[in-house]
Amino acid sequence: MIEITDRITIDLIRKNNLVNKEVTLKGWVWNVRSSGKIKFVILRDGTGFIQLVIEKNNVDEGIFEMIEKLTQESVIEVKGVVVENSRLKFDKNKPNFNVAFIGYEIIVKDLKVLYKTQDYPITPKEHGIDFLLDNRHLWIRSSKQFAILRIRNTVKNSIREFLNKEGFIEFDSPILTPSACEGTTTLFEIDYFGDKMYLSQSGQLYVEAGALAFNKVYCFGPTFRAEKSKTRRHLMEFWMVEPEMAFATLEDIIYLAQNMISYIVSKVLEDNLYELLILERDISKLENIKPPFYRITYKEAVELLNSKGINFEFGQDFGAPEETVISESFDKPIIITNYPKSIKPFYMKLDDSKEFVLNMDILAPEGYGEIVGGSQREDDYETLLKRMQEENIPLKDYQWYLDLRKYGTVKHAGFGLGIERTVAWICKLDHVRQAIPFPRMLYRYYP
Ligand code: 4AD
Ligand code: MG
Repeated sequence: MIEITDRITIDLIRKNNLVNKEVTLKGWVWNVRSSGKIKFVILRDGTGFIQLVIEKNNVDEGIFEMIEKLTQESVIEVKGVVVENSRLKFDKNKPNFNVAFIGYEIIVKDLKVLYKTQDYPITPKEHGIDFLLDNRHLWIRSSKQFAILRIRNTVKNSIREFLNKEGFIEFDSPILTPSACEGTTTLFEIDYFGDKMYLSQSGQLYVEAGALAFNKVYCFGPTFRAEKSKTRRHLMEFWMVEPEMAFATLEDIIYLAQNMISYIVSKVLEDNLYELLILERDISKLENIKPPFYRITYKEAVELLNSKGINFEFGQDFGAPEETVISESFDKPIIITNYPKSIKPFYMKLDDSKEFVLNMDILAPEGYGEIVGGSQREDDYETLLKRMQEENIPLKDYQWYLDLRKYGTVKHAGFGLGIERTVAWICKLDHVRQAIPFPRMLYRYYP
């Protein structure tokens, strides 16, 4: 009989030297191989993958015979001894990557089936994307999804760590809001006891209030955009972190954003090498992500596009194709500043020319496009009021926001970083839909 002595996980085995220790693991069968007197099971326990070695002489005969009948995703409990196996150390020159390349394996002494799974729908063969998305609740068990979502976890934790170190406090903005932050075309409307409310597109307006109360704040949560676009960069529900600082200018948030992005990447490199290997990510591209990033103005970005033979009209906003071209031209993130005011929201502060705004977008390299949007905010009451009137913004919903410019207004600035786009870039995914557990897209919201 197996005794559970300790809650050992594969992650713990990978990170601690437990060689020669006897451990008990519970998990799911990933796959089974056999070669005569020895059988191998790859076990996944949600924290990693490990090879189990079942030798005929080491276990009861019944157990040995049963191994071959173990089906994918059956639940087992296994007792055995951790041993080192140098052939299971990852080797760059080894073409066949194996998820259980963690340098250790388990010599099994006892094994018990806790649940027998039949006909698991996701098999090692190739499946189409629609099938996988329909089975997203199971697909998240696959090795690549495992790696991506663990990296997502590191990205989120590292952001909190970084902002805490910088002296920010988390200041939660509401999800249900009576007014729009990023324009009225992408609002999800909610019936609020007969009144109209919207799902938040951004917590920015509220963190601005927070910055004047607490100096350095951030909100971090889901945001919603009814985006009619069906691109590999757009979700209807995505996570955004939005730092906002009082007594800060555009330069201050550029500095903050560069350091934050570099910190995120360095943390992923530190904590998730195994996951990056599962994804076959080119690590050197990430090791390169250190400040200073590249910096150009909107005007220079337009010139760059034109020099690459792209017919782009000055004054338009960059779409996905333009972003891809710009971001493929650099090996580090690119900060683009000073966009024309006509294509940016009312709250951005105008520069001296009054034609451009004090804003920045940061595009990730390798063709990934925009991951950050931010700006210095208009802090002058009259100027802000005028801009809101010019843009026909219903002032009654924004009285509180205007109040912030009446009572102790100061220069302030902030930005929003999209989690899924950041994860998609770090993991080099072809679509943001894999960067969130349950994606919400234009024609897909099941499961
Ligand atoms: O550039 P955006 O629209 O900026 C704002 O919402 C500001 N109010 C933020 C601020 O200054 N506090 O969005 C910020 C980021 C984008 O750069 C992108 O990474 C992400 O949010 N994003 C999306 N991610 C996935 N799907 C979508 N539909 C997204 N829309 C924006
Ligand atoms: Mg933007």
